[in-house]
Amino acid sequence: MKLLHKTLKLSDPDFIRNPYPTLEDLRETAPIFFEPSYNKVFFTRYDDIAALLRDKRLGRSILHVLSRDELGWPPQDPRQADFDAFNASHMLDREPPDHTRLRGLVSQVFTPRRVEGLLPRVKTLIGRTLDALEDRKTFDFVTDLAEPLPVAVIGELLGVPDVDQHLLRPWSAAIVKLYELGFSEEQQQQANTAVLEFSDYLRSLAAEREKNPRDDLITALVQARDGTDKLSEEEFISSCILLLNAGHEASVNGSSAAMLALSRNPEVKEQLVEAATSKEPVPALFKTAVEEFLRFDSPLPMFERFVLEDLNFNGLQFERGQEIVLLYASGNRDSRKFTRPDTLLLERTPNPHLTFGLGIHYCLGAPLARLEMALLLKSLLERFPKIQAHEATLEYGGGFVIRGISRLEVEV
Ligand code: HEM
Repeated sequence: MKLLHKTLKLSDPDFIRNPYPTLEDLRETAPIFFEPSYNKVFFTRYDDIAALLRDKRLGRSILHVLSRDELGWPPQDPRQADFDAFNASHMLDREPPDHTRLRGLVSQVFTPRRVEGLLPRVKTLIGRTLDALEDRKTFDFVTDLAEPLPVAVIGELLGVPDVDQHLLRPWSAAIVKLYELGFSEEQQQQANTAVLEFSDYLRSLAAEREKNPRDDLITALVQARDGTDKLSEEEFISSCILLLNAGHEASVNGSSAAMLALSRNPEVKEQLVEAATSKEPVPALFKTAVEEFLRFDSPLPMFERFVLEDLNFNGLQFERGQEIVLLYASGNRDSRKFTRPDTLLLERTPNPHLTFGLGIHYCLGAPLARLEMALLLKSLLERFPKIQAHEATLEYGGGFVIRGISRLEVEV
């Protein structure tokens, strides 16, 4: 079978704003296609994406299989050496057995029990943020509400002192720019500097915790590292940065996208406002609603994989080293998998969306992300049942890989 060629400009602001009509068209006319300007093969249908995510012949990294020379890549760019070293040392960009070892160590301390134990604290943080907004008629949902909460939660969980938490978001924002397909030299330099500064900061925090242990994740990771001798210094620092960044980026964007969807679907909002009066900390409707918001408008619409060994897929031949793009956001709207995929159905069950991925890299923070989003939406609608977004103020920042609203004024 012959591979179709198509053009797709991921950085196009119109596409970032609303990628769904384009994705639907691709799903129907060119479900698997080669994009020459990126030199990558794109997959748009749910079943293909799910099958590939479970296939061991694909991986998030390739340099353990082929050298840069063999791949025809230019030599490593010294201007982003620290950024590359960071990515080479955390679980997300490692494959078994290293991935298993790194994920095992982090999971050992980042347990469901630790997440559940956070519920009262997350509620207090939300309450405090909402109190500060009580007297305002309008505010920016992103900077005033969606951003501060996940940053405070993951910062506190790791053990970053309150006074330093303002450092996390700018470092993370600079780092994630390099995950877009295409970035400027300035962005490259800023990302590399952010990795260096972030690493230095965490090194001194870890040294402090080694002397004065506390009940936080950094202390637990320091102890796991020292107890098993299985985590190098570089892997330890990179794991902390990964947790801090992954621990808030998508959550901020997920809550903002949910606010926009609420505002565009008044009947859905009414249903949730009603459910928010319940005494339950997380009423059942909020649990299914969070899954549906994440399916409907995913904050991380695509991830890449490398072909680790030659493979034949659906009659198409892919060579070792080929880069592929899996459009999770497209799979989430595939009518072959979801009935009425373009409609928000708060009680949709089952809801096997791809927003947290699938397979060995399935999001380690999914329980925390779910808890934060459900508590935030519930408290928000309980406190401000009339909340409404001003769509004229809607702005998207960044690119398509980390797709997020950067401004959305709301009136309460
Ligand atoms: C709405 C919020 C979130 C979304 C949509 C999300 C999504 C994802 C996805 C899709 C992956 C797998 C990437 C791939 O398939 O290549 C992933 C991995 C990961 N996520 Fe999340 N995430 C969220 C929140 C969090 C939070 C709160 C944490 C907390 C620390 C976290 C930590 C991680 C880690 C450590 C990995 C790497 C897992 C591995 O490689 O085995 N994420 N996330």
